[in-house]
Amino acid sequence: MKILVTGSSGFIGTALVKKLLKSGHKVIGMDFAPCNKDFVIDTKFQNYPYDFTDGTLIQHLIDTKDFDPDVCFHVGAIADVTTIPKYDIMQVIRTNTFGTSLIAYLCSKKKISMNYVSTCCVYGDTNE
Ligand SMILES: NC(=O)c1ccc[n+]([C@@H]2O[C@H](COP(=O)([O-])OP(=O)(O)OC[C@H]3O[C@@H](n4cnc5c(N)ncnc54)[C@H](O)[C@@H]3O)[C@@H](O)[C@H]2O)c1
Repeated sequence: MKILVTGSSGFIGTALVKKLLKSGHKVIGMDFAPCNKDFVIDTKFQNYPYDFTDGTLIQHLIDTKDFDPDVCFHVGAIADVTTIPKYDIMQVIRTNTFGTSLIAYLCSKKKISMNYVSTCCVYGDTNE
């Protein structure tokens, strides 16, 4: 299969891409951070060093017939929101909400499933 992985340079993304490549899949990695050097030399890996909150890019990918993944794992995110200054909350919303909507839109247009990973952090501070 050809698998789109957003956040492919991150903690979860890197481990996931390694596993997928080892299993013989082709991977399109989409992350604006530099990817693992082992991926660069793997012919089954295509690097898309782009920002998935860029609507123009997403529309371009929708219109591009050669951009044809079979499935998507969306693990690109600002995972630890405690590292973001409070005044920059819009960056979190842009990435985790708007960006996720754009990836969902891309997947719906390409008629592929989107696998999304949430986190226990959504519950915030709780004693329970
Ligand atoms: N790490 C964990 O233990 C854990 C546990 C449960 C759930 N999760 C969830 O998995 C997801 C990934 O977590 P992680 O720990 O790998 O985070 P991470 O910060 O290590 O990786 C996120 C990646 O997304 C990329 N990214 C962010 N915004 C982007 C954008 N606009 N365009 C392109 N790339 C962008 C970053 O460059 C980074 O490489 C998050 O949704 C997180 O909540 C993580």
